[in-house]
Order: sequence, then C-alpha cells, then structure tokens
Amino acid sequence: MKLILENIKELVQVDPMQRLWVAGKSMAEVQTIKNAYLIVQDELIEDFGPMENLPDSDFETDDLVMEIDCSGKMVFPSYCDSHTHLVFAATREGEFVDRIKGLTYEEIAERGGGILNSAKRLQEMPEDDLYEQAMLRLEEISALGTGAVEIKSGYGLTTESELKMLRVIRRLKQNSPLMIKSTFLAHAFPLDFKLRRKEYMNLLVNEMIPQIASEELADFVDVFCDRGFFTMEETARILETGLEYGMPGKVHANELANSGGVQVGVKYNALSADHLEFLGDEEIAALMGSETMPTVLPGAAFFLNMQLAPVRKMIEAGLPVAMASDFNPGSSPSGNMNFVQSLGCLKYGMTPEETIHATTINSAYAMGISKNYGSIAKGKVANLFITKEISSYAVIPYSFGSNLIETVILNGEVQ
Ligand code: NIG
Ligand code: FE
Repeated sequence: MKLILENIKELVQVDPMQRLWVAGKSMAEVQTIKNAYLIVQDELIEDFGPMENLPDSDFETDDLVMEIDCSGKMVFPSYCDSHTHLVFAATREGEFVDRIKGLTYEEIAERGGGILNSAKRLQEMPEDDLYEQAMLRLEEISALGTGAVEIKSGYGLTTESELKMLRVIRRLKQNSPLMIKSTFLAHAFPLDFKLRRKEYMNLLVNEMIPQIASEELADFVDVFCDRGFFTMEETARILETGLEYGMPGKVHANELANSGGVQVGVKYNALSADHLEFLGDEEIAALMGSETMPTVLPGAAFFLNMQLAPVRKMIEAGLPVAMASDFNPGSSPSGNMNFVQSLGCLKYGMTPEETIHATTINSAYAMGISKNYGSIAKGKVANLFITKEISSYAVIPYSFGSNLIETVILNGEVQ
C-alpha cells in the first residue's frame, strides 16, 4: 500500500541527518519543506521533497495507491509522549478541589491521598476495566496527535497489582496502533511499609523486578526519587537491579526538592530524568555530556502550580530538552501534547521550534525510539498528522486548547 500526501503547505521537522536528539541552540531551528509531497510505502516513510520533484508515474491507475491533497495544511511527525501514567482506575478531582481550598500536593499525599489513593482504586479494579478505560485514553491522545507513548505502572504498589498494570499495558501494546513502551515505576512506599522501608526495597529488587523481567513486562524501570519518596540510595539500588535484568532506567527527579535524583539517574545512564523543577547548576553540570534526556512535564507544573524547570538556562547551557504530558489523575489529567507545546511557549519562554523538537525527536529519545520515530526521514515509521488549514506552524502552540489536527496516520494507515 502506497500513500501519497500532495501539495503539503509545509512539511515540518524534516531531518535527513536523522539526529537522535537535538540540543542547545540547534533546538531553535526546525527544517521544513514548503509545497511538499511525502510518500509512505506500507508503514514507512519512503520519500519526500518539494512538489516539483514528485516522481511522475501512473499512480492514479493503481488501486493500491491512496492520494491525499493537503493544500493549505501542514504535516508533522506525530508527537512522542515519553512520560505518562495513563492506566489508572479513577480521576481525583476531589483532591483538585482540596488544593483549590489550600491543601498542598504533599499534604494530600501524607493523608493517604495522592498516589496511595490511586493505588487503592487500581487494586480494586478488574484488569479488563482498566484496559478498556486506558484504551479510550489512547484513542483520545491519538486524535490529539500522539503517535508513540510510554506508559508507567506504579499505581499497583503490590507485586500482584503492579503485574496487573503491566499486563494491561502489554494488551494495549498488542491492540493499539500507537507505538507503546512500558515502564515499571517504583512510585511510593505503601502505608503498611512506611516503617519497613528496607522490607519493601527487598520486595522490589528480589521479587517484583525479577518477576517483571521474567515475563518481559517492562522495557524500562523508573523511580520517584524525591523528598518523601525514594532516597538516592534506594533509587540507585532499584536502577542497578533494573540494569541487571536488562531494563534501562528513567527517573522522576527534582520535582519537590533538589533530591539528587538527577545525579543518580545520570550515574546509571538513565534514558531520561523527568520533572526537574528543582534544577541548579550542579544538576545541569551532571546532565551535560550524559546520555540522560532532561524531560520537562509542563502539564504537571501547571496543574500543581509549581515553580518551573529552568528550561531557558538548560538550553543555553547546551542541553537538549524533551517535554511530555505526564498524563495521570493526580498531577496532570491531560495527555494533550498540543497544550504541552502551548505551555512550553507561554510559561517556559520556548519558541515554537524548540517545543517541536521537545515533543518529537527529543521525547522519542527519552523513550528509546528516536531511530525510528520523532522526525520526517526516509525509513522512519510513518506516524504523522495532517493539520487543518493553518497559516503557520506557530498557530499550534498559539491556539491553546484547540485541536487543529485533521487527519492522523499511524504505521502508514489513515486512522
Ligand atoms: O509524575 N511525581 C510523581 N508521580 C506522578 C504523579 C502521581 C500522582 O499524583 O498520581 C507525576 O507527577
Ligand atoms: Fe510522572
């Protein structure tokens, strides 16, 4: 099957160099082709270029060819959302109201709300129901332009429930057209282990991780390394165990304090360090030259009214920056990557170009897939979206809250 997109007003995020990430000053430049074509063969991008170079052939007579006229519309590589918790049992709008009335996120967590609240609800919910709900969320984000998504466990907390969550993610991988990566997340200490941290740590490294690895249920291992959650030492032990079982690390780090999470993540070559609201010169120095993608989660900072990660400083230091949605019921109940771009521009002072790199190629790197996703290049998977008629690509972050995406193409197929 061949799909030909013609008369594309602007083909955005073209990268013949096939870079695996884009850092520093280069983030301000996005390569595009005006009045372009793009040819998809089966699930891959076969060719693209300016319309005048469109190969002449008898496409029209062939049944196996589908043509789409994209006059006035732009084509982008799908967003890669490298950080979500989109398998969950229930929304938490009660806590949202409590916060409006003055409680903090940490105070709510201390009272057994927060992650522990989600864990309780998830433990009670049958696997099939979790699956159905999560599939609806995937359909929602797919219509908003996301073509690849990482999904974490971490609302299970017991071995049984963590495995349940990861099996749900495995079913989503099998049945959704989105590219999905799964991550085991050591998220919090359950209440009954609060005074027995060592025992829970032993359970994580001697039971949960080995079992997850033996059933091949996770691609990565993540730890919430922050004040009130996992310490640097505990994080190191979990990341080390993950690596022993062939699962690269990721970290939730420096959201609530200068937790040392960034440094531990870098030490264990974590693929990404995420959140980063508390990021000073030391953390920036640790990230420089590392293999760890600094990942900012603007939705969570916006929803919890937190201080913002110093994105401008990071880019000026020469770092790459990725952005993801953190879609979850407690700190970011939205998986809308268009809105993430808007927040990037409006709150973090990023240019539209910088947010494009942050939500495509850099976030693809943060989930280990930037060889095959995250930019327009020959041989990459054809996960794309066609916009409505728009005047320029900056209209996407500018029109916060709107969905300007008209057509979604995943694995070369129009959805
Ligand atoms: O990435 N920060 C830790 N974990 C999630 C939130 C979890 C929750 O509140 O349910 C996050 O923001
Ligand atoms: Fe998260």
